[in-house]
Amino acid sequence: MGSLDQLVAVVTGAGRGIGREHALLLASEGAAVVVNDLGGAPDGTGAESAPAEQVAAEIRAAGGRAVANTDDVADSVGAQRIIDTALSEFGRLDIVVNNAGILRDRVLVNISDEDWDLVVRVNLRGTFLVTRAAGRYWREQSKAGRQVSASVINTSSESGVFGNPGQANYAAAKAGVASLTQVAAKELGRYGVRVNAILPQARTRLTEGAFGDALAAKEGAFDRWDPANVSPFVAYLAGPSCQITGEVFIAGGSRVQRVRPWERDPDWKLQTEGRWTVAGLEKAVADAGVPQGQKWTANPGKGAK
Ligand SMILES: NC(=O)c1ccc[n+]([C@@H]2O[C@H](COP(=O)([O-])OP(=O)(O)OC[C@H]3O[C@@H](n4cnc5c(N)ncnc54)[C@H](O)[C@@H]3O)[C@@H](O)[C@H]2O)c1
Repeated sequence: MGSLDQLVAVVTGAGRGIGREHALLLASEGAAVVVNDLGGAPDGTGAESAPAEQVAAEIRAAGGRAVANTDDVADSVGAQRIIDTALSEFGRLDIVVNNAGILRDRVLVNISDEDWDLVVRVNLRGTFLVTRAAGRYWREQSKAGRQVSASVINTSSESGVFGNPGQANYAAAKAGVASLTQVAAKELGRYGVRVNAILPQARTRLTEGAFGDALAAKEGAFDRWDPANVSPFVAYLAGPSCQITGEVFIAGGSRVQRVRPWERDPDWKLQTEGRWTVAGLEKAVADAGVPQGQKWTANPGKGAK
């Protein structure tokens, strides 16, 4: 008996890296899986059907249920087709893992229009489009009086919530994914859908370029950067025993850690009567002290997270 028996999952970007591990684990827990992957390069160029097909074949060879899909998550027809594939092949949908992502790291002043648009398109628009298609299905089910117990797991990044230099496009997109998660949790809860996000930590082609040997497995020791370490928490969030919604967690190695949402700072608040004047603000800020901002970054210096 698996924790996800009888359930149907979509995992985007599941042909490689972390998404592949999610798909394999969800399937081994009993879920039927739509293995989506466009099969392009880390920068979003190109397309190939082999990665999705191989993972789906691997699941079937192990006795699980899986079907490959090679649509682009950021195309609205494609995103709808990913969800429709779950319904036509397996008759229902319970779990969506939005994992597909790309990188085009540059300092802000060197980011081209295309570098900006494509990174935001895949990471943020792709997450939105797949979630919208799934959300419409669950709304319809709920309104038809059927009991819905569904889960969406989005993939943000420490870069997005802590602001990694060199990744303005990626960080903005991933911060958007974290905000989208909070709003989707509030809106879709009434239909029986929970929505959470993870900030994964793993050795994949996206991180190996930047960190290289630092992420290598050490003989005889627990492989802290193995992408498979991220998947058990995703499978837990996906399952019917989980009640968590609207939250964001770091997941990697042996650790799962909640990230607090943005919050109003009770210790830095300026209040006046009526409208502020600039001179009044200059004095008030001098009295309160200049805010020091974030005390640390996810990944000081360089790197892709
Ligand atoms: N590796 C890390 O430590 C790390 C850290 C933070 C966030 N992430 C995020 O985790 C997710 C998985 O990344 P990964 O490290 O496994 O990288 P990866 O490149 O190995 O996997 C990403 C997969 O997404 C697919 N993909 C890209 N664009 C797509 C599209 N438009 N439609 C469908 N599929 C598409 C790719 O073909 C690829 O197989 C990404 O969202 C990434 O931003 C990874």
